[in-house]
Amino acid sequence: MAHLRDAAECETFVEEVEPEELADHCDIREVVEIPTDPREGVSFEHIRKAIHTVPKIGACLIVTNYSNPLGCSLAEERKKELVTLLAKHRIPLIEDDIYGDLARPDDKRPVTAKAFDAKGLVLLCSSISKTLAPGMRVGWVSPGKFRDAILQLKTNQTFACPAITRMAIAEFLKNGSYDAHLRKIRAVYWELLCRFSGAVARYFPAGTRISRPQGSFVLWIETSADTTILAARALNEHRISIAPGCIFSAKGNNYRNCLRISCAHPWSAKIDRAIQTLGRLAKELNGD
Ligand SMILES: Cc1ncc(COP(=O)(O)O)c(C=O)c1O
Repeated sequence: MAHLRDAAECETFVEEVEPEELADHCDIREVVEIPTDPREGVSFEHIRKAIHTVPKIGACLIVTNYSNPLGCSLAEERKKELVTLLAKHRIPLIEDDIYGDLARPDDKRPVTAKAFDAKGLVLLCSSISKTLAPGMRVGWVSPGKFRDAILQLKTNQTFACPAITRMAIAEFLKNGSYDAHLRKIRAVYWELLCRFSGAVARYFPAGTRISRPQGSFVLWIETSADTTILAARALNEHRISIAPGCIFSAKGNNYRNCLRISCAHPWSAKIDRAIQTLGRLAKELNGD
């Protein structure tokens, strides 16, 4: 079992939208996928190449901290470099920081690229979905110079989120319980990541590779089975839900030998058996 070295996931460029036209963002013509290193994060070489070859880039969308599914982050100096590079070409950066609060227990919370945004071109987005409760549907954006466009989009699409849930979350954040909660779940998620990784190492076919996330709670697994079939069989025959690799590709047909597992479930004998079942299915599909 080795650390996943060369796999690429897709951070994306959204083409064909001028910064001023962010309100028309629904009109995305093409998504350019940018390879991502599981340790270093998104490839700047490929970003530069896209800037020079794609005629009209509307925005760049990146999960800068503990990206889904690889769990890697851009180092602080690389975030700065990214903001400078994109600003030079007037390309807005949509920074999805939804996992940023989920550092390992002994690590500091990483900074955001937004911290280096002098031109208002970074739209920093997050929510409480990964830290508190996905069902609350409370998120936010710090939109830089796109405030009016974002307000208009929000008004057009849903007008507003229910006030009662926003007020409940605001109260929770204000009275300090959020920090205590984060301290607790960061330790819990880290322990779960270790347990799930151990089980994958035990049960999956020889040669399987697992990511070593810097934070958050998902594992990216590279194996030799077709994971689209694996995911369908796991769900239909065993009620086990995993994310097949292909859903992490804009074109929908890459990473068919990879899968993502969420480790945000309390450890139990049932979970251990579920990973054992996945490993057995992977072996069966390989013809082992
Ligand atoms: C990177 C990333 N951004 C955004 C979301 C969606 O978050 P929300 O539930 O707040 O809409 C997810 C959920 O899986 C995610 O992984």
